[in-house]
Amino acid sequence: MINLTHKQLEVSIFSKLLLKWHENDNNRQMPWKGEKDAYKIWLSEIILQQTRVEQGLEYYNNFLRNFPTIKDLAAADEKKVFKLWEGLGYYSRCRNLIATARIITEAYGGVFPGSYNDILKLKGVGSYTASAIASFAFNQPHAVVDGNVYRVLARVFGIEEAIDSTTGKKNFHQLANELLDQKQPGKYNQAIMDFGATICKPVAPLCDHCIFQKNCVAYSCNRVQQLPVKEKKIKQRSRFFYFFIIQHGSKIAVRERTGKDIWQHLHEFPMIELPQENDTDSAVAEALNLKWISKGDPIKAESTIYRQKLTHQSITAIFFNVRVKQLPASLKNYDWSEGDKLSAYSFPKIINDYLNSRVLATQ
Ligand code: ADE
Repeated sequence: MINLTHKQLEVSIFSKLLLKWHENDNNRQMPWKGEKDAYKIWLSEIILQQTRVEQGLEYYNNFLRNFPTIKDLAAADEKKVFKLWEGLGYYSRCRNLIATARIITEAYGGVFPGSYNDILKLKGVGSYTASAIASFAFNQPHAVVDGNVYRVLARVFGIEEAIDSTTGKKNFHQLANELLDQKQPGKYNQAIMDFGATICKPVAPLCDHCIFQKNCVAYSCNRVQQLPVKEKKIKQRSRFFYFFIIQHGSKIAVRERTGKDIWQHLHEFPMIELPQENDTDSAVAEALNLKWISKGDPIKAESTIYRQKLTHQSITAIFFNVRVKQLPASLKNYDWSEGDKLSAYSFPKIINDYLNSRVLATQ
């Protein structure tokens, strides 16, 4: 355990060194950097909440091309917005994006609110995102605390407190706000995030090029790899999905998911969830039982196993292709889409992975 306190490195020296690095050596390019339009900042921050910058770039540009203003986004057909979001995952972000665009358009006349407290009330906006928008767009003194900031502070100041504990979160936020440059909060926030992303990286940090090397507690105590500390391991739930691609003539049964889960508003094929992996006999028996298929219907193909890891769930899926002779009454509430029109629907990643491999196989 390190006993040194963070006060060892003077607060003002930390900010000075960081801003100097930002001015002289920060070469990170991103289209939303230096942006003052709160709509664009908000959009970039929502996209980047659970997405890497490299992956988010294309989505950011695509969204702005389709919806140049927040009013355009508020007026958009939801299906189109979900289609543009497809592949980014964590779809509650997309639902909140639409809801917030509509609230700002209706309640604020399309002008983004400028106070931290009003921004924090928006759907899908937590303290990190509110601080980013308030500081970048409105130069308000609110420190961002994201994974980069936790890492830089834990290492430079040698803080062993868990970043996911209640008191840890509180203390890191307090320190981050003490360190914040009050006159240039936007610049400072951008600098510390870029510094974490490019120098004080999670693995293989560039300590030999680090402006804090002389002052860094973790470096001097050889604790860089151990910091920051996390208390909890994320518990993963394993789920086993069996999808039935049921074809009648040239049409395939597909529907919008209604459950209030991470895939709400995305689409799926008739699906059976079972407690075990690779239990195809039980899946087919259940599909017969539900009268989705009948005894003589040929199962044309059974896929290999597809996997998707989410933060809290590990999904395994198998896809069956069945051609039915009669339209099953039990599936009359489904859309029956032309097989070659499926790409108009937005699907979870695991279904798209399967569909894309199927297209490749028939090419
Ligand atoms: N991650 C999320 N927003 C960011 C930003 N503005 N700069 C760097 N990394 C980020």
